[in-house]
Amino acid sequence: MSRIRPDLSDEPAVRLDGVSLTYERTGEVLSEIDLILKQGSFTFLTGPSGAGKSSLLKLMYLAHGPTRGGIRLFGRQTYDLKRKQLAALRRRIGVVFQEFRLLNHLTAFENVALPLRVSGMKADNYQNEVIDLLRWVGLGERVDAPTPALSGGEQQRVAIARALINKPDLLIADEPTGNVDPEMGQKILRLFAELNKRVGTTILIATHDLDLIREFDAPVLRLSNGLLVRDVEFGGEA
Ligand SMILES: Nc1ncnc2c1ncn2[C@@H]1O[C@H](COP(=O)(O)OP(=O)(O)OP(=O)(O)O)[C@@H](O)[C@H]1O
Ligand SMILES: [Mg+2]
Repeated sequence: MSRIRPDLSDEPAVRLDGVSLTYERTGEVLSEIDLILKQGSFTFLTGPSGAGKSSLLKLMYLAHGPTRGGIRLFGRQTYDLKRKQLAALRRRIGVVFQEFRLLNHLTAFENVALPLRVSGMKADNYQNEVIDLLRWVGLGERVDAPTPALSGGEQQRVAIARALINKPDLLIADEPTGNVDPEMGQKILRLFAELNKRVGTTILIATHDLDLIREFDAPVLRLSNGLLVRDVEFGGEA
């Protein structure tokens, strides 16, 4: 892990102003969401299944735009980005997808290395880093395993390592503990907390797992009927 990387500005990592999202068939799933994630913050996002957690995260990692409202990342308005600017901004974001999205014909190592390989780096220059990261998520013994030979929890950890290989400034994790037992879930969250503390990575974690949330003193945002509320049941200042 590297040094803390202060941004030139102290703009929030994420800022949503009046963001609404309507899907053609489903209707409005997010309405008038205002949200600020400060740089270096660690935040949970919760809410029942179908509440719109993944949809909200997708807007933040710029998978598509909102129906209404503005999204700023690191102080940059995102609706008018050119392709190159969009790619540059996306490189600052690591995403752990709810459904992993690993490539089955690749090994654990190759999946994690892929973002570096496509950016033109030579294997010699990233080999150690990839292996270190796989060790960090507890997969030191599974580096060369083909993806289909990995358990759900192991695949989830490969997906986490892949999200971190580019040293993102913002990590967005969608149910990153959805496929592991409670003990492994805690371990993963502790890794995220360590990353947040030592490197200063801004972290947003969507999860159903209220037991897990209780173990960490971090602000909790809750989606309910398309609206975002601060959860008072849990501690932590937003
Ligand atoms: N691409 C899409 N097109 C149309 N409707 C969608 C699309 N994606 C999600 N939805 C709908 O939007 C609503 C919110 O879905 P979303 O996946 O964001 O919920 P979630 O909170 O992540 O749920 P879960 O906890 O089950 O992962 C649901 O009713 C879902 O069916
Ligand atoms: Mg979801």
